[in-house]
This record gives sequence, structure tokens and C-alpha cells, in this order.
Amino acid sequence: MADNRPIGVFDSGIGGLTVLREIIAQVPGESTIYFGDDGRSPYGTKSHDTIIKYSLQDMMFLKEQDVKMIVIACNTASTHAYNVLSKVCDVPVVEVVVPGAKAAVKATKNGKIGIIATRATVGSGVYESAVRECGKDIPELEVISKACPLFVSLAEEGWWDDEVAYLTASRYLEPLKTAGVDTVVLACTHYPLLAKTISKVMGPDVTLINSGIAVAGVVKDILEKDGLMADSEPTHLFYTSDDPKIFEQVASPFLGRGLPQGTKHVQVDNYDVKGFLC
Ligand code: DGL
Repeated sequence: MADNRPIGVFDSGIGGLTVLREIIAQVPGESTIYFGDDGRSPYGTKSHDTIIKYSLQDMMFLKEQDVKMIVIACNTASTHAYNVLSKVCDVPVVEVVVPGAKAAVKATKNGKIGIIATRATVGSGVYESAVRECGKDIPELEVISKACPLFVSLAEEGWWDDEVAYLTASRYLEPLKTAGVDTVVLACTHYPLLAKTISKVMGPDVTLINSGIAVAGVVKDILEKDGLMADSEPTHLFYTSDDPKIFEQVASPFLGRGLPQGTKHVQVDNYDVKGFLC
């Protein structure tokens, strides 16, 4: 039997649209509801407890929309809040860390993997542990993490492929170049937009991992395995905790395809998460 409920996807803002884009590409028959918490973004500079609280509220909003699955399309929320959300949520919860880590381990030839992400993601150590766990059979495995906080602003500003982006990337990526990594995980939803510049700095032989592609693969596998595929005409709804007009302006290059449209404003900070925390 088909399940025509939508897939719920959330991010701290617009970055998760790079994940949604891959989900729509890989399971085009599925309806989706996207929530971007732009009003409280960025998450990458917030504390562990705040990221958990915000992520629970995002989940509660999506659950109210009767979604059949929740995708945490945010690396920062995945590293800090997946353990909590996956315990309290009664539909499958998909995160972005393990799919990205597996793809990196598969891609590396010299065992040297770079992870670039927000400060909160790097600080959690979760991505690094996931890569080490997935790559435990590679004896010479080396993992180098680097926070690149300015990349988020560059992506939102549309400065993806110019001299400012190049200079910033050259400075951030220096330690990864020195270490000789052959694979770099774009462990922040905004970074795929800067892929061209990152690639210019790292050189053509370095593989960049866009975890959104791997995440969409996980979504597809779960839908097929659990018999949750839809069979009706898909719809794509968008919600933001900030101004819908601003959301649509900034979001459109992230998503392409004439989306998003008809974005609605929603307030999620009144959801009471106390019952979920012990
Ligand atoms: N979406 C966030 C992530 O993937 C980046 C933006 C933020 O810091 O909120 O880590």
C-alpha cells in the first residue's frame, strides 16, 4: 500500500534546501514539507542544549503536519540532536552525518579525509568519530577537521565563485592542503554552493563529498524497505520562521526548479520541549 503523507525536512535555514534538492531528484514522486528556522539561524554558533531545543521544536512542527519521515537536513542539528530526536520521534528520522562519512571513506584512496563544517559541528566531534568508525579498516586513516564559519555568509550572499570566496577558502583550507587530504566532506548544508571555489583551492584530484546526495539515497532506501513510497501527485510546501519573501529570494538559487513558492511563516518557539528532556 502507498503512503502519501509528505516527508518532513528541516534545517536551521535555507541550507537544507541543498539536501531537499537531492531528495526531490532521487524520489520525485514524494511530497515534501520543508521548514527553515531562519528566524533563529545560524545554529552553528549555538550551544549544544539550544541546538537540541530548537531541533525538537522543528520536529514537533513537522510532526503536526503528519509527515511519514523526518530528515534533519542540517549537519549542526544532526551532530547535536539526532540521538534525542531519533529516540522520541515515532516516524523514521534521517540524519546527514553517517551517509556523508560512509561516502568519504568509500572515496578516499590515501586515507586522508578532511571535514569542513560549522564550529558547533566540528566542536561536537561527532563527524570525526563517524568517519573513524566507518573507516576503521583503513590502517593509515587520518581525519582533519576545520571550521569554516564564513562560508555560510558567503553562500547566503551569493558570493560562491569570486575572489572573496577564493581568498577565504585558501585561508581556511590551508591545513587540509598541508595534510594532503584527497577527500573533503562538505559537512555543512551551505558548502555545496561553494564547491567550485573549494575545488579550485584544493585541486582537481581532491574529491568533494556532498552528503545531500548520500542522504537522499538513505531516504529512498527507507521508503522502499518500509513500503512507504507515495503514488499520488507530489506537492512541495515551504515554511520559515522568518520573512517568507526573504526566504524565497535567498532560497531560490539553492533549490532551482522555480521553487520555493507560497512559503508560509510559522512560529515554533512556543512548542514546549520539556517532556522530551530528562
Ligand atoms: N545548516 C547548518 C549546517 O549544516 C549551517 C548553517 C547554520 O550554522 O545554521 O551545519
